[in-house]
Amino acid sequence: MTKCSVFIATSLDGFIARPDGDFTWLDTSAPHIEGEDYGFAEFYSSIDGLVMGRKTYETALGFPEWPYAGKRLVVLSNSSILIPPHLAKDVEQMSASPHEVVRQLELTGASHLYVDGGLTIQGFLSVGLINEITMTTIPILLGSGIPLFGPLERDILLQIISSRSYPNGFVQTKYIISHSIPAD
Ligand SMILES: NC(=O)c1ccc[n+]([C@@H]2O[C@H](COP(=O)([O-])OP(=O)(O)OC[C@H]3O[C@@H](n4cnc5c(N)ncnc54)[C@H](OP(=O)(O)O)[C@@H]3O)[C@@H](O)[C@H]2O)c1
Repeated sequence: MTKCSVFIATSLDGFIARPDGDFTWLDTSAPHIEGEDYGFAEFYSSIDGLVMGRKTYETALGFPEWPYAGKRLVVLSNSSILIPPHLAKDVEQMSASPHEVVRQLELTGASHLYVDGGLTIQGFLSVGLINEITMTTIPILLGSGIPLFGPLERDILLQIISSRSYPNGFVQTKYIISHSIPAD
């Protein structure tokens, strides 16, 4: 079975970006710790592909350097997306249910996927496809923004694997999904 993981940073009130998509608060709200990557490199080396929502992909396209070099990246969108020629080797588009996306990637040998983007994560969570969540909570309240989590038809229970606080106030908690509680 292909494992699907989330590795994400949120504000204390659960937002992954401001309403306009701004996420500079991730870098500016607390002191930078020299050489600290909050476990990202280790996590990234464990995945063999990414599944990302169209909006997160568009954000990444705007970065000065493509951050996902050398990894297969599937962008989910119901319309056609721009894939610059230099990324065509690694980036592809799919429009399918989370189950179908994972099934197709599993067929091509994917064993560990990094699922990214709020709505995309919510879609995978709601059908029971997320196995692990590593969430770094930034000590800031934004009041509004793009939420990490959304409505669910049933509760999802999580088991805490580890929790660590950093000197700058970041708190990183790793969960595995235990099971969903059937709706009444
Ligand atoms: N704080 C962090 O660590 C972090 C991490 C990642 C992203 N972000 C931020 O989060 C924001 C984006 O998150 P978001 O929740 O707005 O959107 P998102 O999940 O990145 O993208 C949502 C879009 O993905 C497409 N999609 C999702 N599931 C699909 C499916 N099964 N089939 C077809 N298309 C599907 C749809 O695209 P179409 O509308 O084209 O059909 C949907 O509108 C950005 O501002 C990004 O920078 C922050």
